[in-house]
Amino acid sequence: MPRAVRFERYGGPEVLKVVDVPRPATPSDRVLVEVVTAAMNPGEIGIREGAFASMWPAAFPEGQGNDYSGVVAEVGHDVVGFQVGQPVLGFAPRAAQADFVVADPAALAAKPAGLGWDEAATIAGVGATAWAGIEAVAPREGETVVVSAAAGGVGIITAQLAVLRGARVIGTAGERNFDYLASLGVTPVRYGPGLLERLQEAAPGGVDAYLDTFGAGNVDVAIALGVHPYRINTIADGNGIRRYGVHSAAQEQADTPEVWQELARLVAAGRIVIPIARAYPLDQVEDAYRDLATRHVRGKRVLHVMPPERRAALPAT
Ligand SMILES: NC(=O)c1ccc[n+]([C@@H]2O[C@H](COP(=O)([O-])OP(=O)(O)OC[C@H]3O[C@@H](n4cnc5c(N)ncnc54)[C@H](OP(=O)(O)O)[C@@H]3O)[C@@H](O)[C@H]2O)c1
Repeated sequence: MPRAVRFERYGGPEVLKVVDVPRPATPSDRVLVEVVTAAMNPGEIGIREGAFASMWPAAFPEGQGNDYSGVVAEVGHDVVGFQVGQPVLGFAPRAAQADFVVADPAALAAKPAGLGWDEAATIAGVGATAWAGIEAVAPREGETVVVSAAAGGVGIITAQLAVLRGARVIGTAGERNFDYLASLGVTPVRYGPGLLERLQEAAPGGVDAYLDTFGAGNVDVAIALGVHPYRINTIADGNGIRRYGVHSAAQEQADTPEVWQELARLVAAGRIVIPIARAYPLDQVEDAYRDLATRHVRGKRVLHVMPPERRAALPAT
């Protein structure tokens, strides 16, 4: 039987179960995808705990996971542009952590050769989110840009996109990630108390743009540095958005297969690196979300949905 992650009530990671489900039928306007890797994102923790229940209630038994990579298993009669066996990546709200996804072809893109299955699974989530922030503040050649939580899922792509635009990038991180960020051309600065002073020291000529991917007062710091609200983006600070009118561009603003393909091309070409901190088999989903909740990582944690023996038969990328 195909498997899927489900939870029947709001709660901690212990409510997550891997259950058997029927193999889905493929409607004529949909594509059935066999999932290889599914990404995990902190927002899913809030959904599972019921923190967003008034806005986005769960329909129990609820599924989990959005962004994923996989192989086309069936193509609906009315769908053009996809073939059985084709490697793809996509976005399937609350459904991606399952052996099969019934995909809307408008939320699916071809996975280029050279792009790993794990990295591909993160493109439509953190990749698109990073892309939206960069578009919003538009870093330019020679500018100084700060990225908060620069070793995190969104931050590590945001920082590299800013480097590609020719900016000098300062990334906040824990010391464990300093050398790695430096290897990507990012100047690391420790987050936490005293951040404003450390950033002033690291950027004596001032900061032109600030991309906040963590919240926790980063927008206040950006304003105190003298960054214009129009050059600040946050994906994690509702108060900062209301108080200062800064940008709040996020995944929804860059949620197109065209953007995914551009990002996929950059990663496949080695111009952006998405480090995979750890991959968990699907049946370890509970432990995986416990680790995700620590909020300390380098890049992404992902779920290997496809069993290893089937995965071994696929091309490596
Ligand atoms: N609206 C959207 O479309 C959207 C999409 C994706 C994400 N988001 C949101 O964006 C945020 C980031 O997501 P993510 O996937 O990038 O998270 P993540 O990967 O879990 O971020 C982890 C990073 O945060 C850093 N960090 C931990 N404590 C910190 C602190 N006090 N100050 C600054 N950085 C700290 C860690 O640095 P060290 O490991 O170096 O200690 C780690 O690298 C989340 O709030 C998420 O819900 C929104």
